[in-house]
Amino acid sequence: MKVTLKDIGKKYEGREEFTLRNINLEIENQDFCVILGPSGCGKTTLLRMIAGLNSITEGDLLFGDKRMNKVPSKDRDIAMVFQSYALYPHMTVYDNMAFSLSMRKERKKIIHDRVMEAAELLQIKDYLYSKPSDISGGQRQRVALGRAMVRKPAVFLMDEPLSNLDAKLREHMRVELVRLHKQLGTTSIYVTHDQTEAMTMATKIVLMNDGKIQQAGVPDEFYNKPANIFVAKFIGSPTMNIIEGTIKKGKFISDDELVVITPSVSDTEKLLAYENKKVSVGIRPERFESGGEFGDTISAKIDVVEMLGKEKILHVKLDNGRELTISTPGHYTYNENEVHSFGFDIESIHFFDTESGNRIN
Ligand SMILES: Nc1ncnc2c1ncn2[C@@H]1O[C@H](COP(=O)(O)OP(=O)(O)OP(=O)(O)O)[C@@H](O)[C@H]1O
Ligand SMILES: [Mg+2]
Repeated sequence: MKVTLKDIGKKYEGREEFTLRNINLEIENQDFCVILGPSGCGKTTLLRMIAGLNSITEGDLLFGDKRMNKVPSKDRDIAMVFQSYALYPHMTVYDNMAFSLSMRKERKKIIHDRVMEAAELLQIKDYLYSKPSDISGGQRQRVALGRAMVRKPAVFLMDEPLSNLDAKLREHMRVELVRLHKQLGTTSIYVTHDQTEAMTMATKIVLMNDGKIQQAGVPDEFYNKPANIFVAKFIGSPTMNIIEGTIKKGKFISDDELVVITPSVSDTEKLLAYENKKVSVGIRPERFESGGEFGDTISAKIDVVEMLGKEKILHVKLDNGRELTISTPGHYTYNENEVHSFGFDIESIHFFDTESGNRIN
């Protein structure tokens, strides 16, 4: 089912300001759309409007061609999984999953087939007759997913469904959810503040901040072509380095004059209009190279080394105390307090208009 949001806005009663404004979005049939953003940016508000649990203040919500604004939640053909996936404690796993279908007075055979199908997919057949209190958190989470799946909804809505699980299990469930989506193809809208979940699971990411969409597109674009400084800093770990400066005679000179960058040929063209204007440069930590025999380099003192196994994260300081983050392969050796020179891949530098924060294209 295709889901379209046209100029959607939300103002809660008793609030002065709109919580969401000008939300325009097309979620194609069979998309796995991840709504990403920091706490309080309005993700749950948006999902609840799509679910029919929040009223829509302005704009149109369409499922296919049908306007849904006034359609009651129960008639929207959706299923929702929340972070706190309360299961009925006195019912078995089987009955928890069968519950909504029984309420709909489906035939016993259909209920049984659907529950068994979901249990098979989610690998929970072995404890269908256990009570929720007798299974692990991850298993309970799968039951909650199963309970939503058996309804075969046109749209599957999930609000941070993995956030109660430990890191290992979350990683595992991410893959399972992707696999499940491949098998079922149900249009899914998934809310999270975890960039890794978004990057790994989404066919489409919608990154929000302050009630507005900052960028929408495929995961690749978020890493390689962030639309503005907010997006650039939100996606990627460790966070992208942002350095403020000015374009002078076609070169980028940082405000402290310690970083000088000769832009690539294609960037030089884009920067023509920015001569003597404030520009910020973004360099991802993984784009630095030790030594750097070619092109521009910076010289920095190593302050702290974080060993993560496959990579080492260096927190370095320039002469004026400015801090940069550099990621290097884990087997490289660095000693704290040593001064090193680092180069960077000139093709992977991002330029932003400092005033608006927008990417210079
Ligand atoms: N029922 C409500 N009445 C008034 N304001 C609300 C209501 N629910 C949420 N808000 C406000 O709307 C804003 C967005 O909240 P929302 O829960 O949608 O954010 P979120 O992105 O889901 O955050 P989180 O990641 O913490 O879950 C917040 O400022 C919140 O205080
Ligand atoms: Mg929320």
